[in-house]
Order: sequence, then structure tokens, then C-alpha cells
Amino acid sequence: MADFTSEFWHWFIAVGTILSILALFPLILMNRGHKPEGDAETSGHVWDEDLTEYNNPLPSWWLNMFTSKGQYQKEIDVAREQFDPVFDQYASLSPQDLTANVDAMRTGKRLFLNNCAQCHGSDAYGAPGFPNLVDNDWQWGSEHEQIYQTIINGRNGIMPPWETALGGPHGVRDVTHYVLNLSGQEHDREFASAGKAKYDQLCIACHQANGSGNVLLGAPNIADSIWLYGGSYDDIYHSIAIGRNGVMPAFNDLLGEDRVYLLAAYIQSLGNQNQ
Ligand code: HEC
Ligand code: HEC
Repeated sequence: MADFTSEFWHWFIAVGTILSILALFPLILMNRGHKPEGDAETSGHVWDEDLTEYNNPLPSWWLNMFTSKGQYQKEIDVAREQFDPVFDQYASLSPQDLTANVDAMRTGKRLFLNNCAQCHGSDAYGAPGFPNLVDNDWQWGSEHEQIYQTIINGRNGIMPPWETALGGPHGVRDVTHYVLNLSGQEHDREFASAGKAKYDQLCIACHQANGSGNVLLGAPNIADSIWLYGGSYDDIYHSIAIGRNGVMPAFNDLLGEDRVYLLAAYIQSLGNQNQ
């Protein structure tokens, strides 16, 4: 079954590619046919004294493709104009008033499903590497203003790789056991106490001595049971040895300030439901 599926895609792509190449020949022939003889009309530009250019307009079907794209953009602009006043009005309300406004929250949910669900899940429960937004555990802060900043400008959490600084796999293993200890999981006490010295030296600048993290740097709490990349020995080992580099895209261009203001209130309300 698996074999059949991979065979199918193999042929699907091969046949598609060959057909696309074949489709280029009629195009080339069409354009050859238009080549003017003798004293042909030129565009009027002359380069290097004698180099001119035939005035060969592009086929109209080709130009039409761009026209309809322009039309699509126009439709988007019209829809924008129509709805902008609604968002403008929401932007004049406080985040608290927005969360209490059923229509506003319904609109916020629609924005979330259209723009955010592909990464955070339609229920906002997330997936490894994509944070859960309903657990009220905030890597970058729980205030409306912090969530607004997260969405409008994006975020990029940088966890450097530590294998070399820790002196190789044994060092990573020791610190991994110490993180298991911090988060209340089963661990080897000897490895963990060797790991503590290294943790205090290399990790507390961002994660704090007790592992509670730092929202200014996006350093997650590693002393609880909520994990961005997983809390098993292997997951934590990987995070420490190789590092992590999560990217939340900026939505300023796509959504603009008013929509993001409303979205931030909606996202904040998801977390508050679970307080
Ligand atoms: C420069 C700041 C910084 C330092 C120093 C640092 N970290 Fe991190 N760490 C981060 C950030 C930021 C993330 C989140 C990465 C992301 O968002 O992709 C992270 C993520 C992690 C994770 C994954 C957490 C999860 O929820 O899945 C673990 C485990 C971790 N760090 C452990 C450590 C250990 C152990 C050390 C010391 C050896 C260390 N970190 C040093 C900033 C730091
Ligand atoms: C392409 C995938 C992707 C899309 C689309 C996306 N996000 Fe994210 N988001 C992420 C990742 C990855 C992170 C974690 C960043 C990090 O590791 O520092 C994140 C982090 C966040 C956070 C911070 C959570 C915390 O604990 O502080 C919020 C809030 C958020 N996203 C909201 C949204 C909203 C709202 C949208 C839609 C407008 C959205 N995201 C769209 C990938 C995405």
C-alpha cells in the first residue's frame, strides 16, 4: 500500500513535469510565427547605436492573467474598506470590554481560524514547536499588550545549542537530569547534581535559578509540566544539545493594527478560560 502510494506520486510528478515541458513547444512556435520580416515595426528604443527591439506585444491571454489578479486585489480592497470601520470601532474598546462582547469574540475567532489555526490548531491546542494558546502558560507574556506585540511583530525564541559548552554528551545528559529534577520528573540524582553546577553557570541567565523562565527573552518555564518541544528525556536532551529556534511570523502587513488588537483580546480570553 505504502509502495503503491509512493509509486503514484513518483509518476504523478514525472508525468506532470513532462507535460509542462511539452506545453512549452506550442508557445515557442506561436512566438516564432509572429516574427516580422524585413522592415518591421520596432519599439523605437535604440541601444549601442544599432540595437533595436521588435514591437511584439505579449499574447493577450497572458496579459489577462495579470488583469484578473488585479481584479482579485481590487475585491480584497473593497472587502477591506467595507469591514475596516467595524475593526476601527472595536479598537476603541478596552481589551476587557472586547472579551465581554460576544460579536467581537466571534469575529476574533474567525480571524484566528483564517490566519492562525494552520500552526496553532483550530482548537488552539498547538503541537510540538507551536505553543498551546489555551493553557494560560505564556512564553512571551500574558498581558494584552504583550500578546499584541507577539502577533503584530512576531517572535523568535533563541535557545542556543550547548553540547560543546557542556563538554559533550555526558555534560548534556547531566543537565538533562537536572531539568527533569526541576520539573518534578524521575531522574538520576548523581547526574542531576553534576548538572546543577553547569545549569547555574550557563542557564540561569535566561531560565532563572528555579527554571521559571523569562518572558522578555521568550525563555519558557522549564520547571512545570507544560512543554513547547516535549518533556521526555530525549526531547529535553535535544533542546539542550542542539538548541531550538521557534518563529512566530509578524502579522502587521497582513492584518494591520486594529485586527491584531482584537485578536490579542480573543487569544487572551482563551487563556483566561483556563485560569
Ligand atoms: C540566551 C537565553 C537562553 C539560555 C542561556 C538558555 N536557554 Fe533554554 N531556551 C531559551 C529560549 C528562548 C527557549 C525557547 C526556544 C524557542 O522558542 O524555540 C529555550 C528553550 C529551552 C528548552 C525547551 C523548553 C520546552 O518547553 O520545550 C529547554 C529544555 C531549555 N531551554 C533548557 C536550557 C538549559 C538546560 C540551558 C543551559 C544549558 C539553557 N536552556 C540556556 C533561552 C535560553
Ligand atoms: C507559521 C506558523 C504560525 C502561524 C501562522 C501563527 N503562529 Fe503563533 N506562533 C508560532 C510559533 C512557532 C510560536 C512560538 C515562537 C517561539 O518559539 O518563540 C508562536 C507563538 C505565538 C504566541 C505566543 C504564545 C506564548 O506562550 O507566549 C501567540 C500569542 C501566538 N503565536 C498567536 C498567534 C496568532 C494570533 C496567530 C494568527 C494571527 C498566529 N499565532 C499564527 C507559529 C505560528
